[in-house]
Amino acid sequence: MIGRLNHVAIAVKDIAAASAVYRDVLGARVSDPEPQPDHGVTTVFIELPNTKIELLEPLGENSPITAYLNRHPDGGIHHVCYEVDDIDTAVEKLQASHARILGAPKIGAHGKPVIFLHPKDFNGTLVELEQA
Ligand code: CO
Repeated sequence: MIGRLNHVAIAVKDIAAASAVYRDVLGARVSDPEPQPDHGVTTVFIELPNTKIELLEPLGENSPITAYLNRHPDGGIHHVCYEVDDIDTAVEKLQASHARILGAPKIGAHGKPVIFLHPKDFNGTLVELEQA
């Protein structure tokens, strides 16, 4: 069901500092920060030849990554995102497998439908599925 690795998301407290590390130390191509008020985060995308890294900084009072950063003050890997052909088909298959889906599909940071899957059902890793 899953296809390519779309991105690995890293939660950070200071997205400017994190961007500078990827740009200046690792020599990567780094986008400008983009506020995503619907998702409670500011994002930076780092294009690699075979995938992307997504830096996430909390935005607003109820950011979904605040609790994670309280537990991981240095930042850390927050989720991995795999591509699927069709989000509704993926939801049906996951429901048949009793995997827990966190909320309803919504439009993600790339303008495509996404869902998130409970880390307890996926080896302690928050999984995002994005319609390719
Ligand atoms: Co993501």
